[in-house]
Amino acid sequence: KARSGWLGALALLMAGTAHADDGYRLWLRAPAAAPAATTVAIRGDTATLRLAAAELSRVLPAGMTVMVATAADPGVAALRLPFAPLGDEGYLVRPVTLDGRPTLLVAGNSDRGALYGAFALLRHLATGGTAAKATLTSTPKVKLRVLNHWDNLDGTVERGYAGVSLWDWWTLPDLKDPRYTDYARANASIGINGTVLNNVNAKADSLTPRYIAKAAALADVFRPWGIKVYLSARFSAPIELGGLKTADPRDPQVAAWWKAKADEIYRAIPDFGGFLVKANSEGQPGPRDYGASHADGANMLAAAVKPHGGIVLWRAFVYAETDPEDRAKQAYTEFKPLDGSFADNVLVQVKNGAIDFQPREPFHPLFGAMPKTPLVMEFQITKEYLGFATHLAYLGPLFEEVLSAKTGRGDETVASVVDGSSERHRLTGMAGVANIGRDRDWSGSTFNQANWYAFGRMAWDPTLKAEPIAREWAQQTFGTDRRVVDTAVAMMMGSREAVVDYTGALGLAHLMATGHHYGPGPWVADLKRPEWNPVYYHKADRAGIGFDRTKTGSDAVAQYAPPVAKRFADPKTTPERDLLWFHHVGWDRKMASGRTLWEDLVAHYDRGVTYVGDMRRQWDGVRAQVDAERWQKTATYLAVQEREARWWRDASLAYWMSVNGRALPAGVAPPA
Ligand code: GCU
Repeated sequence: KARSGWLGALALLMAGTAHADDGYRLWLRAPAAAPAATTVAIRGDTATLRLAAAELSRVLPAGMTVMVATAADPGVAALRLPFAPLGDEGYLVRPVTLDGRPTLLVAGNSDRGALYGAFALLRHLATGGTAAKATLTSTPKVKLRVLNHWDNLDGTVERGYAGVSLWDWWTLPDLKDPRYTDYARANASIGINGTVLNNVNAKADSLTPRYIAKAAALADVFRPWGIKVYLSARFSAPIELGGLKTADPRDPQVAAWWKAKADEIYRAIPDFGGFLVKANSEGQPGPRDYGASHADGANMLAAAVKPHGGIVLWRAFVYAETDPEDRAKQAYTEFKPLDGSFADNVLVQVKNGAIDFQPREPFHPLFGAMPKTPLVMEFQITKEYLGFATHLAYLGPLFEEVLSAKTGRGDETVASVVDGSSERHRLTGMAGVANIGRDRDWSGSTFNQANWYAFGRMAWDPTLKAEPIAREWAQQTFGTDRRVVDTAVAMMMGSREAVVDYTGALGLAHLMATGHHYGPGPWVADLKRPEWNPVYYHKADRAGIGFDRTKTGSDAVAQYAPPVAKRFADPKTTPERDLLWFHHVGWDRKMASGRTLWEDLVAHYDRGVTYVGDMRRQWDGVRAQVDAERWQKTATYLAVQEREARWWRDASLAYWMSVNGRALPAGVAPPA
C-alpha cells in the first residue's frame, strides 16, 4: 500500500517472488554469482587478498578503479598513510591517487586487515553509503574474537537450537562442505577470528589423530578468512587417551603427554589457536581433583602450546556440588586469589554474570578484580534461558549493559577490562557461545542472526552500541526500506527487556524449568543439587522475595569494588532492575513507581506480554515489504512467543500467589 505505480509493483514482485528467501545469506545479501561489475586489482598475491577482491568485485559499480593491498607494497607505502595505528588487523579504505589514477584503496598492514576493509566497505554500501569517496578506518580493540561451539562429536549441539552441528564429522576430513566456507565468510565479515570447534563438556576423542585431521581440514578452509581453530580439551585426556594413571598437572609425565599432544596438533594445524578448558565444573575433570589449583592446570597446558604461539582459554565458570557457598560467589572465591599466578599465554574466560547467562545478571564481580590476568568476556549467543530459537530477543542491549557497567575502580568499565585498555594487557579476548547449526538460516530464525552479528561487532569494539548495530544489521538483512528497518530496530531494541519482564523482572533469575531451561518453573524445589532449584534463587515466602546477598546474607556484594559494593548493599541504592538479585524484601516494599513490589512485579509480567503483542502488530505492518518466507517464519515464531509469554506470566503469578497469599492487584485480569 505504501508504494504505488509500476515501480512499487516491481519491487513487490521482486521481494515476494524473485527467489524464496530462506535466510541462508544472512546479512551478506549481495548476489553471490553476479557477474563481476568492476575489476578489483590486488597488490601482493595471497589467498586472503584474492578473497577480499572477489567480495568487492561482486558489488562495486562498474568503472571504478579499486586496489586491495597491504602496507608492505612499495606503491602503497609511498602514500604515507596512517598504517601504524591499524596494528595487525585494522584497515583503511580511502580514495587515493595510485600510479597517477584515482583509485579506491582498501588496505591493512596484513592481508587480513585488507579483508576486513573489504567487508567494511560492503557494510558501508549496504547501509546506504557510496563507494567512490568512501573513507573508512578501524582497528579491532580486542585481539581474540572467538566463537565457542558447544558441538558434540555425535553431531548434537549442547544448548543448540538451530539444527545439528555444522561440522559433519563423518565426512570430514575428505569432504570440505562449501558451507564451511560460507560460515568462515560470514564470520570474517564481522571480524571473528577464531572458533572453538567442540563443546566445553569435551570428550577426549576430539584430541585423537582422526579428529585432529578433521579439525585440520576445517582450519584449512578457515585460514584464508583469518580464522583460527581452537579445541576444547578434556583435562583427563592423558588418562583416557594416554593410559596414564593420573592427570595431575604437576606430574611430569602428564605435562610431557600434553606437550607431545600439542606438538602433534601443530604438525597438522600450524596456526592452531590453542585450548579452551572447562575444569572442575559440572562434573568435568580438572586440577582440583588432585589438589592442584586452576593456575597449575592452566599453566601446564600453556607450557605445551607456548613454543607454537598457542594460548589457553581457562574458564572461570566453576561451582561445586559440595560447596555450600552462594553459587554466585564461587568463581570469585576460587579465581581472585590466583591473580598474578597465570602464565602469560593464559586468559581466564568469565561469563558475563556470576550465575549462568540469565536474561539479566549484574556484571560478574571478577571483572576488575584480577588486574594481572587478561579476562575474556564470555557471552552466550544461543538463547538457552531466553526462549531458545523461537523467542525474539535481541541480545545487543544485554551485551552493551554488561560491557558499559562501571566496575567501581575509577573510570574502569567492564569493556575496558576486556579490551585490555585498563591494564594494558597484550592478549585480550571475547567469546560467544555460538547459535549456529545446520538450519538453512543458520541460527534458527532471522532475528537470531542479529545476535551472532552483534557479538562479532562488539567483540571488534566493545564500546559500540546496540542500537546502531541493530540498524546496520537490519539494513543489510532486509534492505534499506526505512519502514522495515525502523520496525525491525524498534522490535529488537526492547525485546530482551520483554523477556526479562515475562520471565521474572526486578532481579529475579533462574526460574526456568530445570534441565532444558524452557518455560517457567519457579516452583521447582526437588532437585538434589540445591543450586539447580529455582527456589534457591528467589527464596520467596509469605513475607517477601529475593536473595539476600548483603552482609546479613551471603555477602556476595563484598566481591565488588567498594563503590559498587556499597551501592548494591543497600536496597535504596540498588537499581530496581537488580533489586531481588541482592535483597530479600517485603512484597509491600514501596517502589519508585509508587506501587508495591508485588504490584510492580505483576505489571512487569504484563508489560512483557504486551510487548510481544506489539511486536506482532509491528511485524504485520511490514508484511508487504519483507519476502514471504522470512516474514512468515518470524510471524509464526512471534505467535509462539506471545502464547508462551502468557504462559510464563500466568504460571508464575499463580505460583507467587500461592506463596504470598495475595490477590492480583486491582485492574489486572486473573491468570487464565
Ligand atoms: C550452563 C549450561 C550447560 C553448559 C554450562 C557451561 O550450565 O546449561 O549446558 O555446559 O553452562 O557453560 O559450561
